[in-house]
Amino acid sequence: MESKKQISGFSKLSKTAKLKWIAENFFHNPEEVIRELKNYWFEDKAQQKVFDEFSENTLTNFILPYGVVPNVLINGKTYCVPMVIEESSVVAAAAAAAKYWMTRGGVKTEVIETLKTGHVHFKWPGNNEKLKQLFPDIRKALLAGTQDLTCNMEGRGGGIKSIELKDFTEQEPHYYQLFARFETCDSMGANFINSILEQFGTILQDYIKQSDEFTGLEKEVDVIMCILSNYTPDCIVKASVQCKINELLDNSNGIDAGQLAERFYLAVRMAEIDPFRATTHNKGIFNGIDAVVIATGNDFRAVEADGHTYAARNGKYSSLTTASIENDVFKLSLEIPISIGTVGGLTNLHPMARKSLELLGNPNAQELMQIIAATGLLQNFSAVRSLVTTGIQHGHMKMHLMNILNHLCATEQEANLAMDHFEDKKVSFSSVRNFLSSVRNKLIVNS
Ligand code: MEV
Repeated sequence: MESKKQISGFSKLSKTAKLKWIAENFFHNPEEVIRELKNYWFEDKAQQKVFDEFSENTLTNFILPYGVVPNVLINGKTYCVPMVIEESSVVAAAAAAAKYWMTRGGVKTEVIETLKTGHVHFKWPGNNEKLKQLFPDIRKALLAGTQDLTCNMEGRGGGIKSIELKDFTEQEPHYYQLFARFETCDSMGANFINSILEQFGTILQDYIKQSDEFTGLEKEVDVIMCILSNYTPDCIVKASVQCKINELLDNSNGIDAGQLAERFYLAVRMAEIDPFRATTHNKGIFNGIDAVVIATGNDFRAVEADGHTYAARNGKYSSLTTASIENDVFKLSLEIPISIGTVGGLTNLHPMARKSLELLGNPNAQELMQIIAATGLLQNFSAVRSLVTTGIQHGHMKMHLMNILNHLCATEQEANLAMDHFEDKKVSFSSVRNFLSSVRNKLIVNS
């Protein structure tokens, strides 16, 4: 490795000095790079400071498109849903599905449970039966010793909902867990949960050290770690759409409603059966979910991890949606854990997250869970409908064509000609470039 690409104390440099060092050591045109990266700074210094302080070693801002999906009808209420996503066609697909289901009763959603989980992972060398016997008393100590941390949340209806002792000593000698469940109301609750868990760790160690029930080595509890779990199978939301098969009519692809229902059902079955297909199928669902999670300032890595683990809950990775055809009714349902918040964290600090929540009518966490699930379901409907009818490239290529045309600085007239031309032809960068240069040549000759 070249030594000029190494540095110590980088984090202590000013932002300008960091930028200079990066530009000079990693780029051929440092001044231009500095100018370009600074272009993405906010003019408003206070605003920029907010962004700089979200993270570390910040040089500039990385901008992504912020779009909206109007007409999302959920339980009789219409939302305009914000989505932050770079992938072309995703917002268009969600919007098409929202409009489609708006005239077929919309999406029905329901929050099943809202509990989050967290663990104290510890090693203890004593007799497991003795620990189990004493656990009710230990639980009391854990609850009493965290009152200072839980009283505010309890005032809002939340707090610690259960604490269990889990014995993993058959898999790993001396390994136990305190397995706790929490209600964190409208906050995602990561700080709340982790603070309590760390306090649990200390209380557990103190309890065992001070108890006369334990002697010698039994007094040694080794707390390995205290951390929430991003797997929240007790924080579940359901979303579904349904209509009579003859209302499923789709006029754009030459197949009838019955065929569409059958092909759709089979496509979902394939994702239930085959993990390769399930991964892509679920990725499509997360196209919608992540985009809303990001737009509302929530943690999309947590929501993704949670959903994928849930998709494997029966021992095999499978589809997060299910489809059915019964009594001439087609139904598509999604069941997924979604652990998000509408207060605290980035939801309050990021100006666009605040705008997104306002756009959604300032929902509480349960309402936002339902909006997110509904968007994931609509996204899945659109993707699978395209896949089993026209094929996915049909829609993608239109957007792809627009991106290439923008890249090649096509005028409106050139873009219109290209769209007509490529209606029935394969789009590739070179085919569009060749087409444009022939159009431009003709325009020059004719002028
Ligand atoms: C692409 O981002 C998402 C899809 O692949 C989802 C799917 O295959 O169901 C179209």
